[in-house]
Amino acid sequence: MKIKVIHGPNLNMLGIREVNIYGPMKLDDINKNLQNVAKQNGFEIEFFQSNHEGDIVDAIQESLEDGTNAILINPAALTHTSVSIRDAIAAVKLPVIEVHMTNVAAREDFRQKSMISDIVAGTITGLGPLSYHLGLVGLMEILNQIKRAQEIQQAQAQKGN
Ligand code: DQA
Repeated sequence: MKIKVIHGPNLNMLGIREVNIYGPMKLDDINKNLQNVAKQNGFEIEFFQSNHEGDIVDAIQESLEDGTNAILINPAALTHTSVSIRDAIAAVKLPVIEVHMTNVAAREDFRQKSMISDIVAGTITGLGPLSYHLGLVGLMEILNQIKRAQEIQQAQAQKGN
């Protein structure tokens, strides 16, 4: 099963940008850690970062055709503004977890609103790179539960035949 990790604008600058807020870790290192955790648990993982809203919408839509089973997303600043990312998430109907490095609830007023929190499976904020790690663990658990439910259904259907 495949999980797609989507990083929004300016997250390519982690480790350089506002290190006092976002910490010293680079995006590549966050991705490497996620890759290791996914691999250890038998999941495929794919990474996508863009500074462009439409490209993120495309990446979400393409999930329906490229074998993605779930999405881990940090839409960054677009969290607070993007109706099109919200609509794309609603359209694909895949399990999605929203993550933020910082505790957005403790930051500026304009960061208080997330356009996607009410349509995702869950949101993890404020734990730095650990937000991504826990988000991934959550998605793997959700996918394992879906798989178990499907296996039970199949076994029951076979019994019925
Ligand atoms: C962020 C929080 C957003 O408000 C901000 O625009 C970001 C990163 C976070 O991970 O804490 O770029 O999503």
